[in-house]
Amino acid sequence: MSVIDEIKARVNIVDLISEYVSLRKSGRNYVALCPFHTEKTPSFVVFPETQTWHCFGACATGGDIFTFIQKRENMDFPEALRLLAQRAGVVLEPPSEEKSAEEELKQRLLEINAAAARYFHDLLLSSDQAEIARSYLTRRGINAETIERFQLGYALDAWQALSDHLRMRGYRQEDLLTAGLVIEREDGSGTYDRFRGRLMIPIRDVRGRVIGFGARTLDAEGVPKYINSPQTPLFNKSATLFGLDMAKGAIRAQGLAVIVEGYMDVLQAHQAGIANVVASMGTALTEEQLRLLKRMTKNFALALDADAAGDQATLRGLAVARETLDREIVPVPTPRGLVRYESRLDANISIITLPPGMDPDDVIRESPERWAELVDQALPIVDYYFQVVTADLDLTTAKGKAEARRRLMEVIREIGDRVEQTHYVQKLARLIRVDEKVLWRDLAGRQPRRRKEERAAPQPQEEAAPPFSFGVEEYCLSMLLRRPYLLDQLNQALRDMGEEALHSDELTHVENRAILEALMSGSEKGDLDLKTLRESLDVALWPRFDRLLQGPAGEPPVDEDQVVPDLVAGVLRLRQRRLQALIEELRFLSEDAMIRGDVKAREYGDTMRVYTSALRRIHQALASHSTLGRRMGAL
Ligand code: UTP
Ligand code: MN
Repeated sequence: MSVIDEIKARVNIVDLISEYVSLRKSGRNYVALCPFHTEKTPSFVVFPETQTWHCFGACATGGDIFTFIQKRENMDFPEALRLLAQRAGVVLEPPSEEKSAEEELKQRLLEINAAAARYFHDLLLSSDQAEIARSYLTRRGINAETIERFQLGYALDAWQALSDHLRMRGYRQEDLLTAGLVIEREDGSGTYDRFRGRLMIPIRDVRGRVIGFGARTLDAEGVPKYINSPQTPLFNKSATLFGLDMAKGAIRAQGLAVIVEGYMDVLQAHQAGIANVVASMGTALTEEQLRLLKRMTKNFALALDADAAGDQATLRGLAVARETLDREIVPVPTPRGLVRYESRLDANISIITLPPGMDPDDVIRESPERWAELVDQALPIVDYYFQVVTADLDLTTAKGKAEARRRLMEVIREIGDRVEQTHYVQKLARLIRVDEKVLWRDLAGRQPRRRKEERAAPQPQEEAAPPFSFGVEEYCLSMLLRRPYLLDQLNQALRDMGEEALHSDELTHVENRAILEALMSGSEKGDLDLKTLRESLDVALWPRFDRLLQGPAGEPPVDEDQVVPDLVAGVLRLRQRRLQALIEELRFLSEDAMIRGDVKAREYGDTMRVYTSALRRIHQALASHSTLGRRMGAL
């Protein structure tokens, strides 16, 4: 539930409005003198069932709790949101006190990690016992400068060495535990060091502060190969990229971020002067990680392990797990998942294919030039899957074609950019020799099923934006966001038909309304940049904004000549629905008033007639543009 829905669920409109005006019950509803214009007989009605209000008098406007507060308190949407959130007891941001306690804890953990990193590093440089680590690094071709720059270290093979060192310096046992550096003994008799007898690799955040450690065994048979810091208030593996602090400048400068899997790959790359490389640390690449990178570039190249990337299971849309003796299960993002990231983030993701059996580490050690070539040859993710699928299937057979269609449509479905999607639909049509239209039908017909599948294979990032379905309102708004310059054309077309320009009040969903308002005010200022627009919105509205921008799933390619007529039809249909609902309400109101012999009955009747004739006009307008409604018909 979005915070907005939650607020709506908690604040009763009748209670809220009765604090401002005195309401009188009238049948199922409440009436009052309109607080927004002067009048002698009440035409302001509150509808508890729909949690809405409407002025049937001079204002001829209405809305929900948010619009009421906005109008009454003269607030903009974010202000009204704050006020109502407070009233509803819905927390928008953590209260400042709690926040500062958390900040203090984080500060202490950062100090502890920094002290631990220094301690491990000093040991690596000067302890006799660290000889094993020093010779290991030499064997792997890691030089002194890299050891220094990455502050590599060594943890003694002892149970208390680190904790003794840190406790003597006044750090609290409790904080060492929270930092993940020590582990509680099962019998409760104290703690022992997590990292023992290992090569220590400090993991830093984007600002270069140590937030955790990766620790490699120095024993060829050592299991597990790496031990990492657990999840702590500082360290969230799935929102961290190893090496980002060192790579960010190069990523910006080159306009490309290369993502590898391992610590060693990053160390080796940076040592060779290839500085735009970061590691996902063996986990499936997450959307959070890409968002971090997105601040620096929108171009990502993924160096996938040859066997994992080529694994047919990947193409079947399953989360692939590579299980070997020495490592945990490491899922690789599915092609669908990657393409979805790409479209949600408006990014370009390409795939670097490594020679079989080689890590980036091996390639770079052998030849940095070879690495540069491989990066140059990276294929855009969708082309990459086309290539894998065609290599794998016999496209001269009906069976092979059907299989290719199924696998590739799964990926094409996730492409957010319509131009690009069209390109690949055409490419697939040519490849398997079917009519493009058939493929578009595939895309249009299968939305509900896709949702179910997504739920069955949980991918936590996907739950971030609560799903909503596209109705006429969402369709129009989505189209306008994607083509903001059409707003003027739409309004002109409406005026040409004798209809009023689009007004934000006409949208029934409060989030849609706030987004449309922002779009309209941007349009007035002549600033239709989507980024600015998004930033001008309250963060609570971002998930919906992003979904709208993406458009409905499986949307056929947009026929540009048809867009404005479609929008006009959409707006007319909205008006039609709204008038129908209002007329319905008025019918109840006037019957109610008549029974009680209220003078209002007559007035309600008059208003109803005005609305009815407006409705008739819209019916006609819609009918005379019967071709208009094509796209809308389905919604
Ligand atoms: P790799 O097994 O490819 O390790 O795992 P690597 O970095 O190439 O290490 P070397 O070259 O064998 O020394 C890739 C990454 O997956 C994570 C680590 O981040 C590693 O760098 N990993 C791997 C773990 O977290 N735990 C493991 O047990 C293994
Ligand atoms: Mn390796």
